[in-house]
Amino acid sequence: MASSALDSTTESLSKLGFHPDFSASAPNLQKNLRLLSAEQIELARMLLEMGQSHLFEHWAEPGVDDEEKKGFFEQVARLNSSYPGGLESYIKTARELLADSKAGKNPFDGFTPSVPKGEVLTFGDNNFINFEEAGVREAQKAAFVLVAGGLGERLGYNGIKVALPAETTTGTCFLQYYLESILALQEDSCRLTQGDCQAQIPFVIMTSDDTHARTIQLLESNSYFGMEPTQVKLLKQEKVACLADNDARFAIDPNNKYRIQTKPHGHGDVHSLLFSSGLLKAWHAAGLRWVLFFQDTNGLLFKAIPAALGVSATRQYHVNSLAVPRKAKEAIGGITKLTHADGRAMVINVEYNQLDPLLRATGHDGGDLNDETGYSPFPGNINQLILEIDPYIEELTKTRGSIKEFVNPKYKDASKSSFKSSTRLECMMQDYPKTLPASARVGFTVMDAWLAYAPVKNNPEDAAKVPKGNPYHSATSGEMAIYRANSLILRKAGAQVSDPVLQVFNGQEVEVWPRIAWKPKWGLTFAEVKRKVSGSCAFSQRSTMAIKGRNIFLEDLSLDGALLIEAIDDAEVKVRGSVQNKGWILQNVDHKDASVPEELRIRGFKINKIEQLEKNYSEPGKFCLNP
Ligand code: UTP
Repeated sequence: MASSALDSTTESLSKLGFHPDFSASAPNLQKNLRLLSAEQIELARMLLEMGQSHLFEHWAEPGVDDEEKKGFFEQVARLNSSYPGGLESYIKTARELLADSKAGKNPFDGFTPSVPKGEVLTFGDNNFINFEEAGVREAQKAAFVLVAGGLGERLGYNGIKVALPAETTTGTCFLQYYLESILALQEDSCRLTQGDCQAQIPFVIMTSDDTHARTIQLLESNSYFGMEPTQVKLLKQEKVACLADNDARFAIDPNNKYRIQTKPHGHGDVHSLLFSSGLLKAWHAAGLRWVLFFQDTNGLLFKAIPAALGVSATRQYHVNSLAVPRKAKEAIGGITKLTHADGRAMVINVEYNQLDPLLRATGHDGGDLNDETGYSPFPGNINQLILEIDPYIEELTKTRGSIKEFVNPKYKDASKSSFKSSTRLECMMQDYPKTLPASARVGFTVMDAWLAYAPVKNNPEDAAKVPKGNPYHSATSGEMAIYRANSLILRKAGAQVSDPVLQVFNGQEVEVWPRIAWKPKWGLTFAEVKRKVSGSCAFSQRSTMAIKGRNIFLEDLSLDGALLIEAIDDAEVKVRGSVQNKGWILQNVDHKDASVPEELRIRGFKINKIEQLEKNYSEPGKFCLNP
C-alpha cells in the first residue's frame, strides 16, 4: 500500500479510537493490517472476539494474494450486513442452537399439542363458491410473494425450477402460470368490485445467487408474460456462513482459503427481505391488506388461492396456512396448536417426525393416528401462507423479520463433538407465527390435495422409490395432477369426463385423465368455469383440450381427440357439436435418453401430436365453432 493510503487508514483508525494489535491472536492478520480499511479492521476485531481467529491462520505474507484478502473482507461485510443483528448475533445464536442440539433438547418441551381451529372446504359447494367470491373481491388488496431461491437438489434439474413446464400440452412454465394467474385475479377482482382497474397486484420473487440471473432472463425473454415489468420485484437472499464445529467456528471454503463457506439460509429469509426492502411499508401505505406466500412448483396453487383468501378475509385470520388432509404419519408437517403451562401458545407447523413423539409424550398413547374421517386431525401443511398486513408489519417491526432458526448438524459419532460436514443456521417462512402473541388469529384452510397441491420436488429415480400410495411429487405426477384437477372441475361443472387410465412413466404409476388445460383467465374460480360450460359436454379419456382465451364457452361439446382454441378477449366464441380426430398421444421416453430434452425426460413421456382441430380468433366479435 502506498504510504499516503497507509497514513489515511492509520489516521481514520485513530479518529475512531482504534489501536489494533492482533499479533497475539492472529499474527498473520496483524502483518496484513495495512491492506484493510478502518471498517474492515473493525470487522476483523469482531471476528477475533467471536473466536474466529482460525480464519487468518493460513493468510500469506503481505504482497501475496492481497486481492483475495480484500475479497475476504468484502464477503464478511456482506454476510454481516445481510443478517439481522450481524455476524455477532449469527454466531451467538449458532452457539446456543448447537449446544441445544448436542444436549438433544426438544424444542417443544413443555408444550401440549391440540388441533387448532380452521376452515375445511369442500370443492364446489355453496360455501366454497362464497369464499371464492370473497377472495376475488379481496385480491386487489393483495400482494403475492414467490419464494424461488432454492437449489432444487432433489429434483436435479439443470435449469431453474420455475422455468419447467407445469404441463406439456400447452408448455406453460410455472412462472408463466403464476404471473397469468395473478393477472387474471387482478382483472376478475376489478370486474367483480367495479373498482379501480388501474390497480396492479404487486408480485415479488425471492431469488438467490443460484436462481437470480436466470429468473430475470426468463422474465425478460418472455416480456414478463404480459405483466408490467414494474409490477414485478426481485429480492435476492444472501447465503449464510457455514459452521465447522460446536463453537460455531466458520468453515473455510474448500475451493478458496480466503472465503468462508456459505450455504442457503432457507425460505424464512423472505420476511426480513420484505421488511428491509421497504416494500411492506409501501404496500401498507397503498392500502393493501394481504400478503400471500407460495413456492416454486405447484401447478394447482391458484385453484385454491381465491377460496383461501376468502377464508382469511371472512374469518379475519392474521395468518392462514393452506393445508390438505393428511394421513397419520404421512411425511408432511401437521398444523398444530401448542400450548405451554406458562401461558405461551402458538399455531405452527410441526414436522411429521416431531409430531408423533410429541403426541406420545403428552398422553396420546397411539401417537399420530387417523380419526373417524380416516385422516389425522392435524391438517397437512403445504406451506402457502396468507398474512394480514397490519399485524404482519407490527410483528416485523419488533423482530425486523428475523425468524426462529434451527440447526441440523450431521454428527460424526455419538459423542456429538464433530460434524461429518459443515452445517449452518436455517429458517423457514412457516415458522413466522412462532413469535406471535397467543392472542394472534392463526388459522388454516383445508382443501383437497387434488385441487391444491402437486409440487415438483423429486427426480425420477427417487420418485419411483416412493412407497405405493404416497405422492410422487415429481414432474410426472405434477403434470398429471393438473389434468386430473381440470377434469374433476369440469365434472363438477356438469360435464361428462371419462375415467382415467393407469399408465407407468419413469417407473411411476399415474392416473392419466384427458389432457385438459386452460389459461387462468378462462376459469380461475369454479363459478367462472361453471359459467362457461353448459349443456351436455363430454370428454373421452384420449382427449386433449387447450383453451387460451377469456370468453370461450363450451356448449354441448363432445370431444374425442384434440381441440385447441385461442381467442383474444374481445372475441366471444361458442364451441358446440362433436369434435373427433386422431388426437395427441402420450409416448413413453426413457429418463436416461439424452437425445430427449431434459424437460420431457424428467416426466417420462412426450406428446405425439397426430391430429387436432385448431382455431384462433384474433378479431373482435361473436363466433361459433360448430364443426
Ligand atoms: P424446497 O423445500 O423445495 O427446497 O423449498 P429447495 O432448496 O428448492 O429444493 P431441495 O431441498 O434442494 O431439493 C421450498 C421453496 O422454498 C424456496 C424454494 O425455491 C421453494 O420454492 N427456497 C428454499 C428459497 O426460496 N430459499 C431457500 O433458501 C430455500
